Amino acid sequence: MIDISIAGASGYTGLELIRLLLKHPEVRFSTLTSETYAGKSIAEVFPSLEGHIDHKLVPLSENIGNTCHILFLALPHTTGMKWMPQFLASPCKVIDLSADFRIKSAEIFEQWYHTPHLQPDLLPKAEYGLPEFHRNAIQSARLVANPGCYPTSVILGLAPLIIEGLVNLDSLIADSKSGVSGAGRKASLSTQYSECNEGVSPYGLGNHRHTPEIEQELTRLANRDLNISFSPHLIPMTRGMESTLYAKLKKEISTSALQEIYQRFYQGEPFVRILKPGSFARTGNVVYSNYCDIGVTVDSRTGRAIITSALDNLIKGASGQAVQNMNIMQGFGERTGLDFPAIFP
Ligand SMILES: NC(=O)c1ccc[n+]([C@@H]2O[C@H](COP(=O)([O-])OP(=O)(O)OC[C@H]3O[C@@H](n4cnc5c(N)ncnc54)[C@H](OP(=O)(O)O)[C@@H]3O)[C@@H](O)[C@H]2O)c1
Repeated sequence: MIDISIAGASGYTGLELIRLLLKHPEVRFSTLTSETYAGKSIAEVFPSLEGHIDHKLVPLSENIGNTCHILFLALPHTTGMKWMPQFLASPCKVIDLSADFRIKSAEIFEQWYHTPHLQPDLLPKAEYGLPEFHRNAIQSARLVANPGCYPTSVILGLAPLIIEGLVNLDSLIADSKSGVSGAGRKASLSTQYSECNEGVSPYGLGNHRHTPEIEQELTRLANRDLNISFSPHLIPMTRGMESTLYAKLKKEISTSALQEIYQRFYQGEPFVRILKPGSFARTGNVVYSNYCDIGVTVDSRTGRAIITSALDNLIKGASGQAVQNMNIMQGFGERTGLDFPAIFP
């Protein structure tokens, strides 16, 4: 049994961590933090938790790592960064759900996040927490940078095409759609009901912050520099995310042959499901679960592969993946606490 703490327990990813970990047989809750609700119980903030957990929320402090084995940081980017040396000086391991340690270059981080990186020396210590590709490194990491939700859907969807050398690396396009919970619980104009309901809103075209993260990780897999056109859209649903991915094939291949390649590639992966030829990934089949569904199509007319990749932004795109990483770091079975299907309809 291990003790876990959550910094940012009053946010959406914090709530999802609590919900998932309540069912995890190997963990016990230590500290839960919130600045706004410090002094209240977590069940006062989220009445859905009534009868399951009544921990009192406390403000974040640099000592939080002293009383847990795993510290989850479910904080806005740059919030936990200032105390990372203190967290790592304590006995705990850290899983950071923010973007602070995902980008390996402080310079690129600063260019895209428009703020100084306070701990550039710690960047090499952080492992990018995408288990499908970095399981061994995650196992021994003290600091795991949990991937972003869009990057998880795009990287898992494109990786087989890239690693198997099937596509032209200058032709990658990701057209992604996210539910509104992707923006977190804090109030903002663009996520108000009247602003986002009944409409599809492209945003961040050509400059979304997840672009360098996707490019960094796909470059690692391809072993050569590459770019991607990444176009995110906000759509009027609460949770779930779907990326439709396009790449120019180097040579002719059938949909069923490509589907077999994907099937082989992800064989044994507990949370990646390759759909049958002719099926497309739908958010309805993955919401509230840790699965990423991937559908494979060849458009022989244009010579492009069209891949659909769907996940729950708060689960495989954030807190579920963080629990999966914790399981790997602690030597628990990887499915522990995550072994359930979507809730649909
Ligand atoms: N939402 C998603 O789908 C998603 C997916 C992948 C990754 N992420 C990443 O996960 C992190 C958390 O996202 P979220 O959606 O859970 O955000 P959120 O709902 O806005 O929650 C943010 C949490 O951080 C706390 N917080 C805010 N400012 C703070 C400060 N200055 N000091 C200490 N605590 C502070 C908030 O607590 P109080 O306001 O109560 O003080 C709240 O508990 C972000 O870095 C986000 O990019 C989110």
